Amino acid sequence: MQKSTLSAARIWDHCERLARFSEKPDVLTRVFLSQEQNAASQAVLAWMRDAGMSARVDPIGNVVGRYEGEREGLPCLMLGSHLDTVRDAGKYDGMLGVVAAIECVHALQAAGRRLPFAIEIVGFSDEEGVRFGATLLGSRAVAGTFRMELLGDRDRSGTSMREAMDAAGLDADAIPKAARRREDLLAYAELHIEQGPVLEAAGLPVGVVTAINGFSRLRVTVSGTAGHAGTVPMSMRRDALVASAECVLAVARIGGAEPDLVATVGRLETFPGAINVIPGEVRFTLDVRAPNDEQRLRAVAAIVAEIGRICGARGLPVQTESLQDSPVAACAPWLMDQVAAAIEAEGLPVHHLPSGAGHDGMAIKAIADICMLFVRCEKGISHNPAEAITLEDAEVSARVLLRFIEHFSAAQGPA
Ligand code: HGY
Ligand code: MN
Ligand code: MN
Repeated sequence: MQKSTLSAARIWDHCERLARFSEKPDVLTRVFLSQEQNAASQAVLAWMRDAGMSARVDPIGNVVGRYEGEREGLPCLMLGSHLDTVRDAGKYDGMLGVVAAIECVHALQAAGRRLPFAIEIVGFSDEEGVRFGATLLGSRAVAGTFRMELLGDRDRSGTSMREAMDAAGLDADAIPKAARRREDLLAYAELHIEQGPVLEAAGLPVGVVTAINGFSRLRVTVSGTAGHAGTVPMSMRRDALVASAECVLAVARIGGAEPDLVATVGRLETFPGAINVIPGEVRFTLDVRAPNDEQRLRAVAAIVAEIGRICGARGLPVQTESLQDSPVAACAPWLMDQVAAAIEAEGLPVHHLPSGAGHDGMAIKAIADICMLFVRCEKGISHNPAEAITLEDAEVSARVLLRFIEHFSAAQGPA
């Protein structure tokens, strides 16, 4: 049997090319249903076809490639990651997983190899949730758990998700058709940068993910009274931003009170937002995560109560709206073992670690067992243009993924 060989240079080049599909030329931002996302999807479709896959765009804009097994129509090992980015993003968060998976199929095709299962690769259209707030939209559609009411959510410009889908030439009412059945998938595996410092500190290029931390996303609106910055005495103000600033400090205090718990205010907007107007309204986001669900939900409750106390003491109404809750997603031991075996076969030590970052496997877990292969990233930096990996790590992690694929056995999977 001819050995499958892959090209790290092509992985590198494809990440560079994807990074050029952006809202602005000097920073990488590619959000759900944007023109730049459509351009990136066209490039990925072509790379999938070059690798011998059939490739299509599904009803929610996911790019889906399929490489048949020994015979047509077999259940698949699903690989993938996301093609959308955060604002001012790095080049590897999401993209590396899609590009590396395609390179593995390219190597199989070049060696004329067909496996006892099909391989599908999905480039998910929205994992970050930057444009509309709710996240994992593409993978939830694949898992059949997409909530159609989200189509009414609006972005910063006031465009609804449904309107954005129409503008992108997608039929929002067809989203349920993106759903896959449990029997279609043997398992889901995702290669992704660690986005943390653990592997680099351990001096290792790759690691086996044990679980993906759960997260809660909320939106908070504090209402005060807009007024003239020059005439309203300080003692008579109902300043929504001063109250919100106290809330942000409370979020940091509560989030920092326990190990492994994190709490972040990532976005804060003041209205009307003029230099000489006392802020009449402030909207900010909350992102709370922990390795166990009870700890996370307890922290969310404590933060919401403290925000209520702070605003109450100032006589300001406050509204807290839950955007999304996602429980801890444990990786399947039978899959973790196969990822570990592939790492060992490459002559590398095996290191297990949890994921503080969210990933599409949290959604796909509804229809398949999941596993993840983490790749070292420089100083653990991510969600930042300084996000970096080495060509060597791109190569070794893709080799581990290819070995995992070539030796994958569903026999140890769930009955
Ligand atoms: O927020 C996250 O953890 C992921 O990057 N969407
Ligand atoms: Mn991300
Ligand atoms: Mn990601």
